[in-house]
Amino acid sequence: KRLAVFVSGGGSNFRAIHAAIQEGSVHGEVAVVVSNAPTCGGVAYAQSHGIPTLTYPAPKLDPAAGLTAEQLVQQLTQEYRADAVILAGYLKLIPSELVRAYKRAILNIHPGLLPSFGGKGYYGIKVHQAVVASGARFSGPTIHFVDEEYDTGPILAQAVVPVYPTDRPEQVAARVLKEEHKLYPECVAALCEERITWRHDGVPIMWSAH
Ligand code: GRF
Repeated sequence: KRLAVFVSGGGSNFRAIHAAIQEGSVHGEVAVVVSNAPTCGGVAYAQSHGIPTLTYPAPKLDPAAGLTAEQLVQQLTQEYRADAVILAGYLKLIPSELVRAYKRAILNIHPGLLPSFGGKGYYGIKVHQAVVASGARFSGPTIHFVDEEYDTGPILAQAVVPVYPTDRPEQVAARVLKEEHKLYPECVAALCEERITWRHDGVPIMWSAH
């Protein structure tokens, strides 16, 4: 499948997915990298690997940024012919036009065990600060399909890491990030190979490769 990957920061999840594509474990290709942060690491990585980028140098998609939500959908579907959208450290809400255009084809990664520690305001280190403050004994990444809200779409996969009493948020962040880099490529591979079915109540189930 042709993937449109959205990034806002360092792009470590994008790099992990790209590495998995290059080693053949993800049967997809990155058709374009989209970002609201033209100078972020993820965009730089894409440019250094000859992957097209589509950036809008503004806080949000609007005529002032030279790119509206409709134009973004048009570009992704017509010019880049993306089959799916992968949000990887992307910090903006996805316009409803995009959610509608890519039904059951937009994945996001959240560095916490949704539905806990999720939603608007819970991103990056804030997630791990809340986890440490809560006394939670476990945390981990959640991969979910995206709907119109932040972090509320149906969960596809999770992984668990321990949270120790002595942990600082940065230590939890690093432990979770390592798991993200394993889990996300597995989920993208399943999406590309159509190894995901939807349970009667709308829960997506990933089936193993063999
Ligand atoms: C990290 O907090 C990661 O957990 C979350 O987004 C942030 C940056 O990710 N998914 P990346 O390194 O840009 O992929």
